[in-house]
Amino acid sequence: MERKLREKAKKVLNANYNEEGFTIPCEGLYPFQWKWDSGFIAIGFAHFDMFKAKKEVTTLLDAQWENGFIPHIVFHNESDSYFPGPDFHKSELHPLASKKYKTTGITQPPVLGFVLQELYRIANDKIDVLNFIKTEIDKVYNNHKYFYENRDPNNEGLVYIYHNWESGTDNSPIWDSVWETMEKDTPHYKFERRDTTHVDASQRPSSREYDYYLHIIEIAKANNYDDVKIAELSPFLIQDPLFNAMLIKSNQALIDLYKIIGNNDDKIKTLKDWQSKSKPAFNDKLFDKELGAYVHYDLRNERPIRMITSSSFSPLFGGIPSQERAGVLVNTLKAKFGGDDKYLCASFDPENENFNPKKYWRGPVWVNLNWLLYYGLMNYGYDDLALRVKNDTIELITKCGFYEYFDPRKEIYKKECSGYGGNNFSWTAALLIDLLDN
Ligand code: DGY
Repeated sequence: MERKLREKAKKVLNANYNEEGFTIPCEGLYPFQWKWDSGFIAIGFAHFDMFKAKKEVTTLLDAQWENGFIPHIVFHNESDSYFPGPDFHKSELHPLASKKYKTTGITQPPVLGFVLQELYRIANDKIDVLNFIKTEIDKVYNNHKYFYENRDPNNEGLVYIYHNWESGTDNSPIWDSVWETMEKDTPHYKFERRDTTHVDASQRPSSREYDYYLHIIEIAKANNYDDVKIAELSPFLIQDPLFNAMLIKSNQALIDLYKIIGNNDDKIKTLKDWQSKSKPAFNDKLFDKELGAYVHYDLRNERPIRMITSSSFSPLFGGIPSQERAGVLVNTLKAKFGGDDKYLCASFDPENENFNPKKYWRGPVWVNLNWLLYYGLMNYGYDDLALRVKNDTIELITKCGFYEYFDPRKEIYKKECSGYGGNNFSWTAALLIDLLDN
């Protein structure tokens, strides 16, 4: 049974692989290369095709800007099945943007550091993969340098994101309070949605939400994607626990890898300096004692966004909480997300009135967040709960297929399969392979 599932997952990945050396997240809905998708996809490929795993990473890094920035989409190919495409984003406005590829001017969570480490962990031929890592690691380091030098205006050790698409959790209810502040200045744009031609509109963001998404990019474009101007003007400026946890985890991975490579003491020292600033700042500023969870901080409006999401638990993966605080987080997870009637882990607090079990990041279970949670719980010795996350993930995929996201409510599966969004979704397949093989 598991062997068959693994074979199906390999087929999904191979079918989504493009001979130019990158893998689309899924056909139609996402026809280009996405940054954090590529990282998770590389981990899946590493288990059976290291050539493609390495290619995924090199192709993405080939689109890195001269200032170290890595864009969230690389438009390698033409496609009219996605909006907004390269003509909207106009990355060429930034003087240091990639000259080789059209890209977006926004980014996504910095997963590549720990992805390189995963490739090394999984590899049978460690020498070959280490040689590969030697050619790529400085690019990832430069990406972190970009974040610390350009995305931390108060020098706190916490970097900001300036767009909800940078968070990866695109339409989470945590952004609703930001949209409220933007409501009166955001026009009703004229545009043709393409996502809702592939997926039922009830599972996707609303068109008004798209207005906000476009508006933030218009402001950035009017300022040629200049970071200083964005920090000054963007109505969306958030310190996101998932994004910062990925950065901290990736910093640590780079330290470990540079140690194996040798002769990189200066970079190791800088990475350690970043860690010693970022970790305490993360624990001081982003932990909400009353909620027993990490939360987002709205830097523009200077207020925490006091809601619990699956991102709230990602610091476990980053090794950020103390053992005691990890216990508090686990209690919150069990109490709110972990009832017997639910699959772990809903993307948004099921007890909150804004929870929607079908709508993208407003409630459904996502396999990449489950993967982070599985390893995070293992880190802190919560093996039983980690196993439940793993088994829930496998069960959902076995029941429904390789969907983009899944309904967390168990009872609904008695009537129908409730996988939503894109089907044959690459990171669902990739991370399933990793979970099965470990
Ligand atoms: C989308 O178009 O929904 C993507 O997730 C943006 O990155």
